[in-house]
Amino acid sequence: MSSISTSGPTVRQSAHQFRCISCGHVSDSAEQDFRCAKCGDLLEIIYPYWKEGRPDPSQVKFVWQDRKVSFSSIDLSGVWRFRDVLPMLGNPDEAVTLREGNTPVYELPQCARITGVPLLFAKHQGMNPTGSFKDTGMTVAATFAKRAGFRWVACASTGNTSASMAAYAARGGMRSLVLVPEGKISWSKLSQALDYGAVTCQLRTDFDGCLKLLQELVRKAPVYQLNSINPFRLEGQKTLAIELLEQFDWNPPDHIIVPGGNLGNSSAIGKALLEMLNLGLIPHLPKLSVIQAEGANALVRTLREAGGKRLISVSAETRATAIRIGNPASWKKAAYVLAETGGTCEQVSEVEIAQAKAEIGAEGIGCEPASAVTLAGLKKLLQQGFVKPDETVVLVLTGNLLKDPDFTIEFHRGEMFADDAPTAKSLASLRHPPMVLDATLDAVMRTLDQAENS
Ligand code: F0G
Repeated sequence: MSSISTSGPTVRQSAHQFRCISCGHVSDSAEQDFRCAKCGDLLEIIYPYWKEGRPDPSQVKFVWQDRKVSFSSIDLSGVWRFRDVLPMLGNPDEAVTLREGNTPVYELPQCARITGVPLLFAKHQGMNPTGSFKDTGMTVAATFAKRAGFRWVACASTGNTSASMAAYAARGGMRSLVLVPEGKISWSKLSQALDYGAVTCQLRTDFDGCLKLLQELVRKAPVYQLNSINPFRLEGQKTLAIELLEQFDWNPPDHIIVPGGNLGNSSAIGKALLEMLNLGLIPHLPKLSVIQAEGANALVRTLREAGGKRLISVSAETRATAIRIGNPASWKKAAYVLAETGGTCEQVSEVEIAQAKAEIGAEGIGCEPASAVTLAGLKKLLQQGFVKPDETVVLVLTGNLLKDPDFTIEFHRGEMFADDAPTAKSLASLRHPPMVLDATLDAVMRTLDQAENS
């Protein structure tokens, strides 16, 4: 499995540094809490070498394409295939990988008809090894945790980060500690962490409380923190956008729409877009927009009510539990990339999320509720004229349908919104409830007839 020699021509890989997003302080190393030693704000990874002699765009594109026919473990990873724009490995064997990335872009013909946007696509990150986009960041951050000699890694999570972290820790021979809000995350996600051997703590608080505690823990114990505050995570998550641009043959779509929770993913995608433009790999930027649930709309309020100058935290509540976050850590990074790419931020209701999720499911691909905010948000952005019907739009589906089966089952059984008759009626045509029948041919034939005629 790890017979490693890198295939094809290589371009020079670049040493990285850490830069504070507020005061600009640059350092070669970071403290365990990944905060600026001078002002305490978040760090980002930069590549000073790009200033002197940046990678040649056509050579880089060729190398990335060439690695697709390689069988070496590192080239089979849809993250490390782009290693020329990632923190440098000592040798290819170091990468803790589960062949993450390499996710499909699907056309969405039915959603295209519903929205009136013919060029509508989904980049499905739910097709990653643990079923969410987290794997692309985790492979990089877990690799650097192992390299730094940590025995323990830890995260606070609404579920997907913990599933991914536990898997990569197991693959990398490390122990993992998971802090999740008790009763507020899907058991499907939790079951992954359990199976991958994490020490799982369900804390009597929300996600924001878990993250706060984790930040205190990493200052006191030799534990490596794997939340998206860790800038290595965002470097890996950048590859979502790079792979997407490659899939569009480096002709950027007009819009990329992504769900927003702790706001690491939107920050990573935006960083990738800006870097790809600066490196000359794309001629212009797509607009990157973030969609939040109405009940967890900290970024929406921060941009609308505070002009993006200070965070307006909220007390978060939504059935899309993955994005049930009121105090997003990476809000400054996200606000920056939205402004730089000309994107926007919108919020959607619980009903709009459920409807959009069923509409995506009807395409035969499905996603988890948090991912469906993208389609619901697109409808609003079209109404506002921010997205034009003749533009190309990519929705980032962040998690797999199977991540939250309870939501899906409650929806189709009609238990969701049951006390709101007009809403229940408006969603009825999207519901496909399971039926219990006598085991007779007649009963099944009658059901088939009814379905055909309904
Ligand atoms: N979609 C899904 C499926 C998620 O799991 C998350 C975040 C998001 C969207 C939002 O991404 O936080 O980068 O803005 N889940 C985290 C977790 C917080 O712990 O699994 P973000």
